[in-house]
Amino acid sequence: CGIVGYVGRERAGSVMLDGLKRLEYRGYDSAGMVVAMPDGFEQVKRTGRVKALEEALSEAQLGGNLGISHTRWATHGNVTEANAHPHTSSDGKISLVHNGVIENYLGMKKFLIDKGYRFASDTDSEALCNLIAYHYAKEPEVDGKSRFLESVRKTLSHVEGTYGIAVVCTECPGELIGARKGSPLIVGIGKDENLLASDVNAITHCTQNVVYLNDNEVVHLKSDDFSICTVSSKSVEAVIHQVDWDTSAAELGDYHHFMEKEIFEQPVSLENGMRGRFADDGSTAFFGGLNLTPQELRHVDRLLFIACGTAWHACLVAEYLIERYARIPVEVEYASEFRYRNAPLDKNTLVIAISQSGETIDTLAALREAKRKGYRTLSINNSVGSTIARESDGGIYQHAGPEIGVASTKAFTSQIMLCAMLALYLGRLRDLSYGDGVEIVKALKAMPEQIREVLRQNDKIAAIAKQYANYEDCLFLGRQLMFPIALEGALKLKEISYIHAEGYPAAEMKHGPIALISEQCPSVFLATSGEIFHKSLANIQEVKARKGKIICIATEDCDIPEDLIDDLVVVPECHEIVKPILMSIPVQLLSYHIALERGCDVDKPRNLAKSVTVE
Ligand code: G6P
Repeated sequence: CGIVGYVGRERAGSVMLDGLKRLEYRGYDSAGMVVAMPDGFEQVKRTGRVKALEEALSEAQLGGNLGISHTRWATHGNVTEANAHPHTSSDGKISLVHNGVIENYLGMKKFLIDKGYRFASDTDSEALCNLIAYHYAKEPEVDGKSRFLESVRKTLSHVEGTYGIAVVCTECPGELIGARKGSPLIVGIGKDENLLASDVNAITHCTQNVVYLNDNEVVHLKSDDFSICTVSSKSVEAVIHQVDWDTSAAELGDYHHFMEKEIFEQPVSLENGMRGRFADDGSTAFFGGLNLTPQELRHVDRLLFIACGTAWHACLVAEYLIERYARIPVEVEYASEFRYRNAPLDKNTLVIAISQSGETIDTLAALREAKRKGYRTLSINNSVGSTIARESDGGIYQHAGPEIGVASTKAFTSQIMLCAMLALYLGRLRDLSYGDGVEIVKALKAMPEQIREVLRQNDKIAAIAKQYANYEDCLFLGRQLMFPIALEGALKLKEISYIHAEGYPAAEMKHGPIALISEQCPSVFLATSGEIFHKSLANIQEVKARKGKIICIATEDCDIPEDLIDDLVVVPECHEIVKPILMSIPVQLLSYHIALERGCDVDKPRNLAKSVTVE
């Protein structure tokens, strides 16, 4: 979900609406806003997209100079206007928007109903709102202390669970309060205006000066002033950071969709991630922020990668690459599983979290669990200043630029590339030869141009997509390094086109999924040249023999008999280490065009959100 709050001299409604549009990718089940008007607060909520909210807001409501707003990804309660945020207390005084989950809300709700508070929604958030109203009603006036702030603070001291909140009070028309625990919240510091947001993207059009709130901190904002304290009332010294985020990067430009734009940006996003990270001798990479000496890294016996979704697929690629080139054993875990599994780990295990947003709560919770147990942690992420970046002991920023399309593309290839560079770096600290290192560096540097070559086949891939848009099932098959890409291909296709798709190791297909193959279930084969190419060919034959249609994505040197497959996309021949990246591009384009053919909203697929900040 996304939050934007504003207090200042500008038209609050308008500023917040711009902000909501910029972070709509965080959730788009419903949207809502409360704005302070000259004769009281007004609330507008709509189910569906921010567009629906925009249409419902009057010119006057876009004015005002204080407000809170939200775009929702449903957790508790259906997608209805009543369940959309903001929520307002039954005495009408407190309005709030909330991300996260209040675990003890049922107890709160019962307590509040006994005290006469009424509930209009099924959400946990409304309990928080009424509880603030309850404390506000009880809180005595104390000189020099904000009664509003005290009531928020007291409420939060009773909360079990997670929250990022923005709150306003009808009796305090120039004040905005925010707080966080486990769900991101950022304070934007402007001139005669201050903002709150769940994501820097939402406010960079107003200010580049931000304060990242930490867990258990509460911020009290007025248009020309702000202060931060903890839930237990200790004051906190604010550190203002400058975000250097190119705001135009979050705009569509000449493209039809962010996903299309982000696919085409890959040569540049990958160049940005490589820049300044190769050693002068041309045989290795290095990273400025690992906070681990080469000596310490030589003592690492095992790497454990944790992530969710697409980033988890990047971890699987990392496993193949690091084991092959650095000879360090690697394990990969879904973050949500690792956290509760209590896996025994070797003492010298280094834990690496991969997260585009740096805010995914499952990944964050797993990272914290690893830290609690005393492991050194690193993270690879694309959001400077994000919670995961701040809480890991060291890390690598992707520098891929903001990714807006909900289905990850450029962030995925950038994660793989950084894992390849990490494999190279760790390999060169151990027994990878100078010559092998030089080959890898050359291959990485040549890759952006090779991606451009693949992108030039866009029209051809679109034509292939047209023929496959009406199937309802699809298999993605690949071996070794192509297995994670097959998984990612299947995920991409199902996310944005709603076609049921499965990714499988090509050889494993005969142990089950082969039962699915028929004229109604095509397969996408990912074949690369090298020692197991002839084995992949045998797997292709197995599908052909069962009348399954075959799209083959293959590197140039694969010699594939024409009559064996139905459609072919050829990718330039390249070093093993960059194959997962190059082979990802046609897979992304294929899903994109199939989804377009089916009339799907590729940037905002149903039920999904870009960054999931609830467990
Ligand atoms: C969500 C998104 C996925 C993403 C995953 C992990 O589920 O829809 O596209 O891969 O979160 O996100 P992260 O920001 O941690 O990489």
